[in-house]
Amino acid sequence: DDFLATVAEKSDGAKLRGDYSKIDAQYVVAQDWDAYTPEQHALWRRLYQRQAKLIPGRACDVYIESLERLDIGDGIPNFEQTTEKLLQATGWQLVAVPGLVPDQVFFEHLANRRFPVTVWLRDPEEFDYIVEPDVFHDFFGHVPLLFNPIFADHMQEYGKGGLKALGLDGLGMLARLYWYTVEFGLIESPEGLRVYGAGILSSGGEIEYCLSNPAPRRIPFDVERVMRTLYKIDSYQETYFVIRDFKQLFDDTAPDFTPMYARLQSQEPLPANSLLAGETNLSNK
Ligand code: PHE
Ligand code: FE
Repeated sequence: DDFLATVAEKSDGAKLRGDYSKIDAQYVVAQDWDAYTPEQHALWRRLYQRQAKLIPGRACDVYIESLERLDIGDGIPNFEQTTEKLLQATGWQLVAVPGLVPDQVFFEHLANRRFPVTVWLRDPEEFDYIVEPDVFHDFFGHVPLLFNPIFADHMQEYGKGGLKALGLDGLGMLARLYWYTVEFGLIESPEGLRVYGAGILSSGGEIEYCLSNPAPRRIPFDVERVMRTLYKIDSYQETYFVIRDFKQLFDDTAPDFTPMYARLQSQEPLPANSLLAGETNLSNK
């Protein structure tokens, strides 16, 4: 299982793993695709093959279609080639970064339809477990959904919302929203629940667990409920929130969050395993 430091949690850059010596003002570096070794491409293929087997019947349709279109099974993808495809599809670009970047930088990239992708790949010993997002998580987990127009627009709005939240002390709440949607979100489909969260899609174990294990709560998505809820960073999630479709995600996050931030700041957050009175747990259906 992956332990993914979120963008909202990471800090000063102090103990981060990447090489930050060549960043520009937006923390962007050259991907330097030619510098990846044959061993690294081989490790990518192993990660890809393990994960691609788990995708059918578990990932949402949009993800599956985009993954095919991306054609990234042969080795670590070249970001420039993907950017060409993405620009045509939804106007997004990939930018290479050394690893986690400061909140404001991250939000500015998203607000301008640029998705930051970490350049380094985990070591073979880290096949199942990484302490920071690497190129496999960032690319395999996040990039396919950027081909969906509504999700792509949502990500840009999230970036703009992040910049706004910086001045409203709302970052902690926005981080929970990101965690329970973009990283660990589930979505309804006519055939049952499916995964769209990148943290799950890039995880060898949680992709099965989140759909089949009876233990975790699966609760219909509600923005305010999500922003009040703490999350686990070192184990599988105790709660998953389920959206009906990407339009719901876009529409429900569109209202001005300013009053909600103010209201939630005066409340204690809920533990990750809460189930409130009157709330539906889809796991029991
Ligand atoms: N609507 C939010 C606000 O006004 C911004 C936002 C949009 C946040 C989309 C997250 C996702 O602050
Ligand atoms: Fe991520």
